[in-house]
Amino acid sequence: MIPSIEWTHDNKVKMIDQTLLPHKLEFLELEDYRDVAKSIKVMNIRGAPAIGVAAAMGMALATIEYRTLPKEEFLKRMEEAADVIRSTRPTASNLFWAVNRIWEILSSFPDNPSNISELVVEEAKLMAQEDVNVNKNIGKNGATLLEDGDVVLTHCNAGSLATVQYGTALAPIRSAIEGGKKISVIADETRPRLQGARLTAYELQYDKIPVKVISDTSSGLLMRLGKINKVIVGTDRVTSDAVFNKIGTYLVALAAYDNEVPFYVAAPTSTLSLQETADDVTIEQRDSSEVKNVLGKVQIVPDGVECLNYAFDITPFRLVSAIITEDGVFTPEELLKKYKR
Ligand code: MRU
Repeated sequence: MIPSIEWTHDNKVKMIDQTLLPHKLEFLELEDYRDVAKSIKVMNIRGAPAIGVAAAMGMALATIEYRTLPKEEFLKRMEEAADVIRSTRPTASNLFWAVNRIWEILSSFPDNPSNISELVVEEAKLMAQEDVNVNKNIGKNGATLLEDGDVVLTHCNAGSLATVQYGTALAPIRSAIEGGKKISVIADETRPRLQGARLTAYELQYDKIPVKVISDTSSGLLMRLGKINKVIVGTDRVTSDAVFNKIGTYLVALAAYDNEVPFYVAAPTSTLSLQETADDVTIEQRDSSEVKNVLGKVQIVPDGVECLNYAFDITPFRLVSAIITEDGVFTPEELLKKYKR
């Protein structure tokens, strides 16, 4: 797949408009951090690692806008920009991780805003490059869990489109196939925004990886029938007791547990937030119209009926067989031992 987001030579943020997929592959080119923030909120770009890189690039655009201001005014404006970007989506750790990483540069070089701007742009580009390297390593580590002939279920889209390139949950599949194994994918459609049907199916077809889409409620039956060997999902945040991922992930994990199907989570270390517990985390609630209407087009719920639209699920560690990071494969207990400070 082509990169989902990149910094252009003329200092713009170029991203695939994922709301148009699979029908149209079109790009947005943004020059204002406010537009980047909006693109995260309305999900032109989505997926925790891609959101993180977009946030860093948004901060870089803000430094360009404000670089001629005196230091104090510059930092005040940058704080406002950071708040706007942070307020877009509350659950993905990467958003906060990315803004904090840029903020470290801003606070350590406070004297010349113009120089800072160059450093921040370079850092944002570096974060995009690092994302791809991290995903490749997740791929190598996760591929060791896959056997020739495996059929892997995934939920939502934690592929190339959710990152800069290569993906997290889809990385082990890509890597195993590159290593000569025959692997095929079953993608949950993923109501209400249909990231599985629209995006996972699109990018796997684009890369000629066999994929079938199922309705969200089918995976339990398919596991019972022995048609799914493994589950791999991505994550927006890992706390000391649970994994946060797209709504519906918990039910998949329960079905996997009940059918003795391994349930793996691909998690770049930028999504780890191990000082928190699940109860500390705000679950994003999106506009109820996303549930009421299919992709904003066809209303499927009677007028006057309330809809609830929680965007993320909490899957407790007891249902997680292993977590794949860029450093290796860990049981939840091993993960805490390795990374918890
Ligand atoms: O609401 P989305 O599409 O941003 O949700 C994305 C997911 O749930 C992904 O699985 C998660 O961000 C991991 S992406 C590598």
